[in-house]
Amino acid sequence: MGFSRKDHLVGLDIGAATIKAAEIQMSKKGNTLKKFGMIPVAPGAIADGRIMDMPEVANTIQTLFKSLKIREKKVAISTGGQTVVIKTINTAKVPEKDLQQAIVTEAEQYIPYDIEDVNIDYQIMGESEFSSEQMDVLLVAVKKDLVAEYMALTDMAGLNASIIDVDTFALQNMYETLPGQNPEDLTLLLDVGASKTSLNLVKDNISMMMQDNGSGTFQIIEELAARFDTDLSTAEKMLLAPVSEAPDPEIMTAVFHQAADIWCSEINEAVHTFLSNTQEERITRIVVSGGGAYIQPFMDRLETEMDVRVVVIEPFAGLEVNDKTFSPAYISQVGPLAPIALGLALRRVDDK
Ligand SMILES: Nc1ncnc2c1ncn2[C@@H]1O[C@H](COP(=O)(O)OP(=O)(O)OP(=O)(O)O)[C@@H](O)[C@H]1O
Ligand SMILES: [Mg+2]
Repeated sequence: MGFSRKDHLVGLDIGAATIKAAEIQMSKKGNTLKKFGMIPVAPGAIADGRIMDMPEVANTIQTLFKSLKIREKKVAISTGGQTVVIKTINTAKVPEKDLQQAIVTEAEQYIPYDIEDVNIDYQIMGESEFSSEQMDVLLVAVKKDLVAEYMALTDMAGLNASIIDVDTFALQNMYETLPGQNPEDLTLLLDVGASKTSLNLVKDNISMMMQDNGSGTFQIIEELAARFDTDLSTAEKMLLAPVSEAPDPEIMTAVFHQAADIWCSEINEAVHTFLSNTQEERITRIVVSGGGAYIQPFMDRLETEMDVRVVVIEPFAGLEVNDKTFSPAYISQVGPLAPIALGLALRRVDDK
C-alpha cells in the first residue's frame, strides 16, 4: 500500500478560476484514483496565466492539499494560454547531435520573444508531408520568467515542482489513457476554461494542430455582471445556478447564446483553416473539457455548426475509482474540470 515509488507526483492544475489536485496510484494492474479535489481561486489572483497575488494563490494551494490530506510534496504543474508558444515547424533533417542548435536557430523566427528569454523544448513528429529531406518538429517555448514565477509559487506553497508541463499536453496525455479510441478518428480536444480555450487536433495520438485563444467562461461572468449590474462573484453564482433561478432567465439565455456564437465561430475558423491546408477532409468528433462543457447552448451550437458529434470528456473512465471514496454523482459532475490535473498526475518524475 501507499506510494513507495520514488517517481510519484501529484497533479496540480492551477487554473484561473479553480485549482485542482489529483493523485493516482499507478501499477501494472492499472491506475487507481487516490485523491481528487478542487478549490476556487480569488478573483483576479491569476490573470492571463500570470500569478498576480502569489501569497493568496500559495495559500489556496496549501488549503487544498490540507483538505485532501495530500502529504506528497512533489508536484507536476502546467502552464498554457498566450504565455506559451506552440508551433509545428518544418526544418531540414540534420544529425541528432546538431538538432538542438538547428532547432533553436530555426525557432528564432517563430518566437515573438528574445531567444535568450525562453526555454525551448521540441518533439520530432516525423518526415514532412512535402519533402523527404525535411521533418516536422513540434516546438514549445515558454518564457523563463513565467517558469520562475510558477517555481516561486510552488516553493511558497511548500511544494516542489518536478515537472512543468503544458496544459494542452497534459490533457492529451490523459485523453490517451481513455478507452474507446479509434486511430482513424481526427478528434478535436477542446478545453474551454475560464480565461482561455485550447484546441488540439489529434489523430492516432499525434497532435496535428494546437492553438490557444482568450475565450472562456469569464466572458460570460463579466457579461452577466454588466447586464445585471452586479459584481463578479454574484455573477458567477448566477452562472452556477439553474437558468430558471436567474433574475431574468431571458437575459441569461441571451448571454449564453452570445458566448456560444463567438466561441463556435472561433473554433470553426481554426478547424477550417487547418483542413484547408492538409489532406484531412473532416474532423470526426469533438471532446470538450473545462467549465465551458457545462454551457449547454454552446455544446448544442457546436454540434450543429461543426456537424460532428460533440461529447463531454469522461476523464475518470480509464481509472479505478472507489465509489465509497468518490460518489459516482461527484465523479460525473466534476468530470469536465478534472482532465488536466489527472494528466499531470499520470506524469513520472523522469518524464521530460
Ligand atoms: N456547473 C457549472 N455550470 C456552469 N459553469 C460552471 C460550472 N462549474 C464550473 N463552471 C465555471 O467554469 C469555470 C471554471 O472552468 P475551468 O476549471 O475549466 O477553468 P480554469 O481551469 O480555472 O481556467 P483556465 O483554464 O482558463 O486557467 C468557472 O468560471 C466556473 O464558474
Ligand atoms: Mg484550465
